[in-house]
Amino acid sequence: MNQKKLDALNQKFAKVSAEEVFQYAVRKFGKKLTLASSLGVEDQVLTHMFTNETDGVDVFLLDTGRLPQETYNVIEKTMTQYAFTYRVFFPNTTAVEQMVSEHGPNHFYHSLDNRKECCNIRKVEPLTRALDGYQAWITGIRRAQSVDRAMTPFFEWDSVNDLLKINPLIKWSKDDVWDYVKRHDIPYNVLHDQGYPSIGCAPCTRAIQPGEDDRSGRWWWEEAVKKECGLHVNLKDKNQ
Ligand code: ADX
Ligand code: SF4
Repeated sequence: MNQKKLDALNQKFAKVSAEEVFQYAVRKFGKKLTLASSLGVEDQVLTHMFTNETDGVDVFLLDTGRLPQETYNVIEKTMTQYAFTYRVFFPNTTAVEQMVSEHGPNHFYHSLDNRKECCNIRKVEPLTRALDGYQAWITGIRRAQSVDRAMTPFFEWDSVNDLLKINPLIKWSKDDVWDYVKRHDIPYNVLHDQGYPSIGCAPCTRAIQPGEDDRSGRWWWEEAVKKECGLHVNLKDKNQ
């Protein structure tokens, strides 16, 4: 989809709610639509919305092999509560074996290149398989999560994976998310109650202190760089 069409789409939806964006996505893309869930609280909201919209929900998760036990617990709880199963993607075995054999299990702490290599192998490559054959994917990105995400539109073109990316929650505040979760009794990761607003892999996520930025507990040792793992990078950003 070219930029002109995307702009028109975003314009058309400028004033609508997250639910309406979701409904449009389900109507327009049907079985060619998938939701990416990290099991973070935003993704739990979207999973709930998805189950409200259609019986055949399609939700995938990238199991990096380094997720916290609490995330596995909420995976199981969600499967039971909503009676569905996730499409689960693991990293390529040979690539992980090679990386860990050569560099050990914690090489991502030692340089940005190492960290990106690990994220590429454990997240970015599996994402390409998760999205293969789909026309659109949904994410739980919110503008308030970080400065880098402040301009995120409802609809954007994912030029790496060549499909539409839809972000229904962009305008929601953290309070909006938690109000929704409490109102609908949605299961969530207990780490959120222990100071973890943003949860990724166990070795790369820690609790934040009051007043700190929500994403400051992710890759906390990388002070100055953009804290993105590559799932949300477009070709133009990659080439910068
Ligand atoms: S990340 O790029 O830093 O990891 P973040 O944790 O903020 O991203 O999550 C943003 C969105 O990316 C989530 O709402 C979800 O849609 C998707 N996402 C992140 N991690 C995963 C994962 N492990 N599996 C599936 N989707 C994910
Ligand atoms: Fe590897 Fe950490 Fe990236 Fe997870 S978040 S894939 S452990 S570098």
